[in-house]
Amino acid sequence: MTRFARITGTGSCLPPRRLNNDDMVALLAERGVETSDEWIVERTGIRARHFAADGVFTSDLAETACRQALQAANTAPGEIDLIIVATSTPDMVFPSSAAILQHKLGIAGCPAFDVQAVCSGFIYALTVANAMIQTGSARKALVVGAEVFSRILDFNDRTTCVLFGDGAGAVVLEASDTPGILATDIHADGKHADILCVPGHVSGGNILGDPLLKMDGQAVFKLAVGVLEDTALASLAKAGRTAADVDWLIPHQANIRIMQSTAKKLKLSMDKVVVTVHEHGNTSAASIPLALDHAVRSGQVRRGQTLLLEGVGGGFTWGSVLLDF
Ligand code: ACO
Repeated sequence: MTRFARITGTGSCLPPRRLNNDDMVALLAERGVETSDEWIVERTGIRARHFAADGVFTSDLAETACRQALQAANTAPGEIDLIIVATSTPDMVFPSSAAILQHKLGIAGCPAFDVQAVCSGFIYALTVANAMIQTGSARKALVVGAEVFSRILDFNDRTTCVLFGDGAGAVVLEASDTPGILATDIHADGKHADILCVPGHVSGGNILGDPLLKMDGQAVFKLAVGVLEDTALASLAKAGRTAADVDWLIPHQANIRIMQSTAKKLKLSMDKVVVTVHEHGNTSAASIPLALDHAVRSGQVRRGQTLLLEGVGGGFTWGSVLLDF
């Protein structure tokens, strides 16, 4: 009998501090940097983002999202036998945010590790958890995307700092006789590392290089649109499905124009695309599970529907997961 991995619960967390575009205009004005609500909305679709308070870490946001997902799946933390956290903004250099999260959830013993694939991180984490469940090395996993990107933003760079926000999303992924995840597809091409990166590193107690996010927006845009179409088609082909079978496309929430362009290439109407970027900004690895949880809780996404999740991000990395919910 084929063993599948099914999502049995979802959860999410947005820190309470919400900044709309006018709040960003005011915040940047203090530094003599100009932006406007019109520019941000027109180029990105973003109207607001959430920033975590000082002292709140990735594992804190992840814990709230996980507790919600566990409750939705009617699962006690002690039943979890695998924790994977996708993040590029971990609490510490080490240990992993997953290990810290495990302790916050009051459990011990099961494997817990981080996956670092920037905005594709949740797709990578889901792919790894799916493989571990299919091969029998896990039965009930917590798969999380959690970020505090506000900590790595350069508030003197208006081309990047208005785009990102903080948050977390989580799913409980369980072994099941019925699907489940139908196909996964992940990729990377490190030659594009420079177009989206945080180039700094820690050495001898100092930070060497710039520890803030750098992006060539137009280069990212062009690459993103092409690879998102490729990976969506690859997952559909692996599962013997077509775009017409997809009830909801849940893309990485970076920019409404990238989402519109991907939907058009797949001949999907925007009515079939879950969009949260206007309220969350780009939360990197958290954006897909956050969007999924919001769509589930708002009644958009229902049991039995077919979902196509897809992400793209620094690395360059990209990938997709097709699943029956
Ligand atoms: N407010 C006002 N003006 C701005 C701002 C801002 N926040 N940012 C840039 N501008 C100005 C620029 O200075 C430039 O002015 P100029 O013509 O006088 O020189 C003008 O707007 C156009 O700048 P561009 O960078 O060419 O703007 P573009 O249309 O490319 O939009 C954007 C920039 C939104 C970043 C776009 O390139 C994009 O969407 N890229 C995709 C990248 C993305 O979504 N990344 C998210 C992270 S990656 C990921 O998650 C996959």
